[in-house]
Amino acid sequence: MSQLSSQDALKAQVAQAALAYVQPHALIGVGTGSTVNFFIDALAHSGIPLQGAVSSSVASTQRMQSLGIPVVDVSQVDALSVYIDGADEIDGHGYMIKGGGAALTREKIVAAQAQQFVCIVDQSKRVDILGAFPLPVEVIPMAVPHIIRQFAALGGRAVLRLREGQALVTDNGQHIVDVHGLKLSDPLAQEALISQWPGVVTVGIFAYQKADVCLLATPSGVQTLRY
Ligand code: 5RP
Repeated sequence: MSQLSSQDALKAQVAQAALAYVQPHALIGVGTGSTVNFFIDALAHSGIPLQGAVSSSVASTQRMQSLGIPVVDVSQVDALSVYIDGADEIDGHGYMIKGGGAALTREKIVAAQAQQFVCIVDQSKRVDILGAFPLPVEVIPMAVPHIIRQFAALGGRAVLRLREGQALVTDNGQHIVDVHGLKLSDPLAQEALISQWPGVVTVGIFAYQKADVCLLATPSGVQTLRY
């Protein structure tokens, strides 16, 4: 059996802890990323029967389907008992930066329909002030130059995200800019401001869709933080 890196061991540990938030026969929302991949694997192996899982990305849909987890379309559900997802950063209020995996738009839509957001992270993601991680923003392609200028006026350096030398195209057919150098000292106000710029599909500040619970993996165990 392959040896997990210490960070992957923390991700596996926190993914296992998240199973406690999955009620049998529930409808749940599932996020995207390497931590969530550990959760999907743990869920499949747990044998917990589900009514279904709403996915936040093509990648998570494929992983769940390959492991026999029933995936349901978000348009077919009224509410989800819980949404389980990782984050790139989380602060002391449960506000987060998300979108490192380019799935932020669907993540925010699915999170908005859940009664509880359970964020699963290792301790490297816990910060006092959001912004050291470049802020992902999903943007309609024709608006990218304008949005880069808008961020420059705020003191940020927005960079178009590339994949294999080309602009990355999201599951929604849009582009991502990653904004360096922004200190997110007022995440609610900054999310509201950036969200209303024409051409922005979704900003990766999750303050309105904040975490209710953070499961934080540390070498001495998983801590539960409630907001
Ligand atoms: C994807 C996300 C992820 O939750 C975030 O990037 C954290 O990913 P990982 O668990 O791989 O560190 O927002 O869009």
